[in-house]
Amino acid sequence: MTRPRVLVTRNIPAVGIDRIRRFADVDLWDSPSPPPRQQLLRRAHGCHGLLTLLSDQIDAELFDAAGDQLRVVSNYAVGFNNIDIGEAARRGIRVGNTPDVLTDATADLAVALLLAAARRLREGLDRVRDGRWKGWEPTDMLGQDLAGKTLGIVGLGRIGMAVAQRLVDGWKMRVLYTARHEKPEAADRWGARRVPLQQLLADSDFVSIHTDLNEQTAGLFDASAFAQMKRSAVLVNTSRGQLVDQGALHHALTSGQIFAAALDVTDPEPLPHDHPLVALDNCLIVPHIGSATGAARDGMARIAADNLIAGIRGEPLPCAVV
Ligand code: GLV
Ligand code: GLV
Repeated sequence: MTRPRVLVTRNIPAVGIDRIRRFADVDLWDSPSPPPRQQLLRRAHGCHGLLTLLSDQIDAELFDAAGDQLRVVSNYAVGFNNIDIGEAARRGIRVGNTPDVLTDATADLAVALLLAAARRLREGLDRVRDGRWKGWEPTDMLGQDLAGKTLGIVGLGRIGMAVAQRLVDGWKMRVLYTARHEKPEAADRWGARRVPLQQLLADSDFVSIHTDLNEQTAGLFDASAFAQMKRSAVLVNTSRGQLVDQGALHHALTSGQIFAAALDVTDPEPLPHDHPLVALDNCLIVPHIGSATGAARDGMARIAADNLIAGIRGEPLPCAVV
């Protein structure tokens, strides 16, 4: 076989791109922003494999533009809501993702956000930076305690489990969760209980979102969800921005329906700096950095490269979505 052709839609760590270069001719979109749609369609043409990011929309139009020789889409992410999985499956195109290697990094960030929002770090940092720090006050800047509180994990998968483990080990939290299936190991380890979302919202002091984005979960956190939460509740989202209705969140944060929110993901990304949520003292937003550690990103690069190569060879993908 002549060397396969692949399109890689963003520069990824060397450990991945070097592996791909040994195997295939690489068209690398080496730019800080995603390829515009027309570029993506044009460059995909004639490729046997695509290595994509969550900012690339992968659908029937793109598969048509690529051509029948396309065998695999390797997403450099654990999430794959940017890919039309049904369409890929119908055409026999394999899809891979990069789970596990980013679980610890993402769980660490979720805990960092939870602590930061509970203790109002964003507001505190702003005060110091803006010269509004007046001195020590007995009743000022009071936050929420963590010890022994109730943690609600929405979507108890790998990352949700890792977040729960940290908060049970560190703060002896009680764990409630939602999931498609019962997770016996969560009951065994922490006495965690699977409950309906409504009950989780009503009973949790901290709610951390780890479910994936699909038609059923889009807008899951809407006005009625916020209305059911405790006024002292802290919401953390490290999954996907579209799971939260941001208008409803803004109302919940400004009307005192919930205490604070911390978001690693927004809709859209990047979120415009003049978006109303950005101005709120009780809303902390970071730029989608859940997996942003050297080890996690190198691990993702290795798996994404291995998925791509296996898919082109017609072998089972190490981490397959379909
Ligand atoms: C990042 O959000 C990912 O899905 O890996
Ligand atoms: C992602 O890896 C998850 O299952 O939470």
